[in-house]
Amino acid sequence: MSFRARPADGVAFVTGASSGIGRAVALLLAERGFTVAASARRAAELDALAAQNPRIFGFPGDVADAKKMAAIIAGVEAAHGPIALAFLNAGVYFPAERDGFDTDVAWRAFEVNVGGAINCLGPLLAAMALRARGQIAITSSLAGYGGIPGSLAYGASKAALIYMAEVLKLTYEPAGLTIQIVNPGFVETPMTATNTDFEMPFIMSAEAAAKIICDGFGKGGFEIVFPRRLALAFKAARLLPYPLLFPLMRRVTRRVRRDV
Ligand SMILES: NC(=O)c1ccc[n+]([C@@H]2O[C@H](COP(=O)([O-])OP(=O)(O)OC[C@H]3O[C@@H](n4cnc5c(N)ncnc54)[C@H](OP(=O)(O)O)[C@@H]3O)[C@@H](O)[C@H]2O)c1
Repeated sequence: MSFRARPADGVAFVTGASSGIGRAVALLLAERGFTVAASARRAAELDALAAQNPRIFGFPGDVADAKKMAAIIAGVEAAHGPIALAFLNAGVYFPAERDGFDTDVAWRAFEVNVGGAINCLGPLLAAMALRARGQIAITSSLAGYGGIPGSLAYGASKAALIYMAEVLKLTYEPAGLTIQIVNPGFVETPMTATNTDFEMPFIMSAEAAAKIICDGFGKGGFEIVFPRRLALAFKAARLLPYPLLFPLMRRVTRRVRRDV
């Protein structure tokens, strides 16, 4: 059976913990008995989070800074013991993507979403492989399943994370590590608050998402995906040949767009 981290095994490390999904997961993991090392750039938000539960400790830093993330991960282990569970969740979506292609926006999405995960994976995998024990879950998105208009760099960066997680699972699970990918649909967070010009089917609260994610950590399967009906629709669409898929995507994305 694959390794499933319990509070006695070590610390939970959560990136993107200052708001939205990461914040709700950090709170729920602390409620479930984990010592939580919560990371994000906004130190004041992390202090406010730590004030909610004495098991939560803030470690401010930018995931795009590889040296800083290595130092943070080493610092977490020095202060609180081995990281048993890492939730690599920091991510950005730039609404400017809807206005057309922009080189700087596209690179920044990759720098944070993919680079941020890579910068944490290096030190985490090294430490966990030495212990032959550890659980890493990476937040991707249903957007990573395939091309969605207005989501070029975001969706592509999330597709890259799914690919990376598949390879990490095949490579590191025989060495005692558990690798998971988290693919949410729409969740009410500051990120989706900017989506005012289209419908978000089956949108759920960050707390409801956090419960599904934390339960998924305990179950240990590869993909934690929700909500079920939207995920099924995305999975079914991917089975279609391109001549059917593209007209369907155009129709669906036109239909959910609101007149503003
Ligand atoms: N909401 C959804 O519907 C949805 C759906 C699918 C997937 N997701 C994914 O879920 C994850 C969390 O998003 P959310 O919806 O909870 O949005 P959010 O509330 O905007 O949270 C994003 C988090 O990432 C952190 N972050 C952003 N850039 C960072 C950087 N350079 N370095 C360190 N931390 C950084 C932010 O903290 P600071 O600004 O303090 O750094 C914040 O804590 C993201 O990976 C997102 O792509 C969200």
